[in-house]
Amino acid sequence: MSEVKTSQKSSQGPELRLDHVLASILHRRSSRNQLRRLTTVPHGMADFSSNAYLSLSSQPAVQQAFLARLHAAASTPGSNGSSSLLGSGGSRLLDGNSSYAESLERTIAAFHRAPAGLLFNSAMDANVGLFGCVPQKGDAIVYDELIHASVHDGMRLSRAGKKIPFAHSSVWEVSHPDPNKSPLETVLRSLLHGPDGGLFRSGERNVFIAVEGIYSMDGDVAPLTEIVDCVERYLPRHNGYIVVDEAHSTGIIGDRGRGLVCEQGLEKRVWARVLGFGKAMSCTGGIVLCSSTTREYLINYARTLIYTTAMAFPTLASIETAYDFLATGQAEPLLDNLRLLIQEAHKLFEALCTRENAPAELLRVGRENPRSPIIPIFTPHARSLAGYCQARGFMVRPIVAPTVPKGRERVRVCLHAANTMSEVHGLVEAVGAWLAAWRTGTLTEAETLRQTQREDQATSNSGTTMVTKARL
Ligand SMILES: Cc1ncc(COP(=O)(O)O)c(C=O)c1O
Repeated sequence: MSEVKTSQKSSQGPELRLDHVLASILHRRSSRNQLRRLTTVPHGMADFSSNAYLSLSSQPAVQQAFLARLHAAASTPGSNGSSSLLGSGGSRLLDGNSSYAESLERTIAAFHRAPAGLLFNSAMDANVGLFGCVPQKGDAIVYDELIHASVHDGMRLSRAGKKIPFAHSSVWEVSHPDPNKSPLETVLRSLLHGPDGGLFRSGERNVFIAVEGIYSMDGDVAPLTEIVDCVERYLPRHNGYIVVDEAHSTGIIGDRGRGLVCEQGLEKRVWARVLGFGKAMSCTGGIVLCSSTTREYLINYARTLIYTTAMAFPTLASIETAYDFLATGQAEPLLDNLRLLIQEAHKLFEALCTRENAPAELLRVGRENPRSPIIPIFTPHARSLAGYCQARGFMVRPIVAPTVPKGRERVRVCLHAANTMSEVHGLVEAVGAWLAAWRTGTLTEAETLRQTQREDQATSNSGTTMVTKARL
């Protein structure tokens, strides 16, 4: 409020007064050490940070297949099912649709064993579109407390009467140790026996349950079969609709990367899936996999589909190229290598902690036998550790509070199919060297200063999603 008063007294023009207000808000954020900045990754850094787990962009076969699609479309106008090579020309509902997009939707849906699919410009748009329009007045949305910010934004738009979090990946009451947090079972029980409980018990009102396949900061896999069992037990009238966000599990989990739902054979028990192409698939965009009726409903009501220019042909072509690579088994060697790197990196980090007798409160590796390429290295000094690694050519990001709860600060190590074993060894050595320097107090002051600046940048950017989550 004080900024607004200042701006009213100012004699500057309206834009400058607004700039003053904005600058003062930014200053506040900066003083909390949470200022976000755009950065570019210096060339030559070993990538242990991006979400492009399969490293498809660097595969010559992928590059050639993508360029061949572009050339074919350019040399035979109209062959891509659209009159436009560059942009799409409008919303899917006006001039932006193409037979190419519709065919791609059918291909992707068939690959993931879903009845239908609807493309969105991003997985963020897919979540906002879906959650924003499907739940009706009086319905409830029950969501994992770590659900992505895009689901929160969708819920904000939604008419659902109740939006209730449950403790992260915690399903049954008996197995949950924290009495202050409610597992899914508890939340469903209270919903069924609270106000309007009769309407949920009779099946008159619907409950949407939102979870992710792999959670982006911890890299843990959701206990999906248990979640489905629990929902079916408490909502036996088939009014529990599970939505699985597979942004991080698409391409790396399940047969040929079909995702967690397919891996666990839950295609018919999960109501909808949101997939993102910006992670393992190394493209951009997203899709909702659902029934054809739901698809038609989304075409009519999802604002993030209706009021935006549809994906351009090159984007569709890149997605088709990535799927072709996966479906034909060409990505298998990459997946094999990625799985090997995950096991090796985890083993090396564990061995380092044991060998150096690192106190858990100083350095600890997350999760037993990780299944995802995201390996959190827990340390209260995440900024120092990440900066130290970055200065030695390893791009990792610190994730600190309030992005994650205090005491859960970590360096997020993200592995890729194109990482080499020697890069992994180099990263582990750098972590070991940091540990030694930290313990002996031999980090130089200059180094520490430079690190702090780099770290602050990395933190504020990498935490974008989670800071938003933490605030919601
Ligand atoms: C779980 C999850 N869902 C959705 C999204 C949004 O994906 P996109 O980048 O395609 O908008 C992200 C991206 O950070 C994510 O982590």
